[in-house]
Amino acid sequence: MDPRPAALRALSMPRSAIREIMVLAASRPDVVHLEVGEPDFGTPDHIVARAVAALREGWTRYTPNPGILPLRERIAARFAARLGRAIAVDRVVATTGAVGALYTAVNLVADVGDEVLIPDPGWPNYHSMVHLAGAVPVHYAQPAAIGYLPDPDRIAHQITPRTKAILYNTPGNPTGVVFPREIVAALAGLAEKHGLYLIADEVYEDIVFEGAHVSAASFGLDDRVFVVSGASKSYAMTGWRVGFLLCPPALGPLAAILQEPVTSHTAAVSQVAAEAALAGPQDCVAAARETFRRRRDIVLDILGNTGLLAAPPSGAFYSLVGIGDRPADSMAFAKALLIEKGVATVPGSTFGPSAARTVRIAFTTDDRSLRTGLERLRDQVLG
Ligand SMILES: Cc1ncc(COP(=O)(O)O)c(C=O)c1O
Repeated sequence: MDPRPAALRALSMPRSAIREIMVLAASRPDVVHLEVGEPDFGTPDHIVARAVAALREGWTRYTPNPGILPLRERIAARFAARLGRAIAVDRVVATTGAVGALYTAVNLVADVGDEVLIPDPGWPNYHSMVHLAGAVPVHYAQPAAIGYLPDPDRIAHQITPRTKAILYNTPGNPTGVVFPREIVAALAGLAEKHGLYLIADEVYEDIVFEGAHVSAASFGLDDRVFVVSGASKSYAMTGWRVGFLLCPPALGPLAAILQEPVTSHTAAVSQVAAEAALAGPQDCVAAARETFRRRRDIVLDILGNTGLLAAPPSGAFYSLVGIGDRPADSMAFAKALLIEKGVATVPGSTFGPSAARTVRIAFTTDDRSLRTGLERLRDQVLG
């Protein structure tokens, strides 16, 4: 239980090592960037063109808190098409990035002192946002030994009377792992059995190379499931800040109210741009996926036979790479790799205790640089 005001809780939030590496990388010449967690190409032209026109049309003002209706209708239609059933618009909120959707969902379900189960390894913001809400982040394992998948039976033993939600992420950052249907079904089963919420971070849902993405909302359970997605990764729109949140029917209106004092809504022009992204041609999504698939194949080509990958990435654009049994921890290793070989990666410890003997790579750079960076990384670990 942490009764301190949010500002004081923020001071004790673990800070991301990603920033430390980025600052160090920015101070050096000719760095191969394998640390950046966003697509390296620009937003498709037709989306930018629509946004420019929208500004001239006067999309420069406040909008309703949950977003403009045409965008919410597009988001609801997108969920409906993927789930194969109707989704009511008032369950859908346009948020300030997927991060805004996650923050809203966590604050809707977790009170001070409640527990929220989060993945280890997992995106570090889960820990910070649960902590900031005054709730207690409790790690569940996604062990390398079982391909960075969660074990629902083990999670069941971590559920206490204070547990409010299980937060999970597929396709995964930092693992690149895509959960098979039976894992998602088992997590939904836990939520149902124990009366918990499931907060599913599906922001990488369009970047899957093998297998199929299975949404948490595929199993009914509408009263217990939040689905988080967004425009950032699917349409190379990270800077526009548009997320999509699907809420349980009773909580949609509350989600809109909760945004009011925090962000009110995401920028009007970004909402119009996201509407254009969803309404327009989707070949840009497929083209981006193929680019990441090609680069993923380069990762497998260079690291696949080294034993350094506990699980080959099958989605998103990340992988964890083992750093061997050298004494240096992952931060010291990442710094040495940057200074000695000019390759920037993220220390695995950022993603939780279990990833302390790894670094995370992102294949968000051109093929040639990627090859160079991976070869240097391999040689640093094995050499
Ligand atoms: C797993 C995961 N969830 C959510 C987000 C946030 O996405 P957005 O930029 O739309 O807020 C990220 C961004 O890197 C992420 O990796």
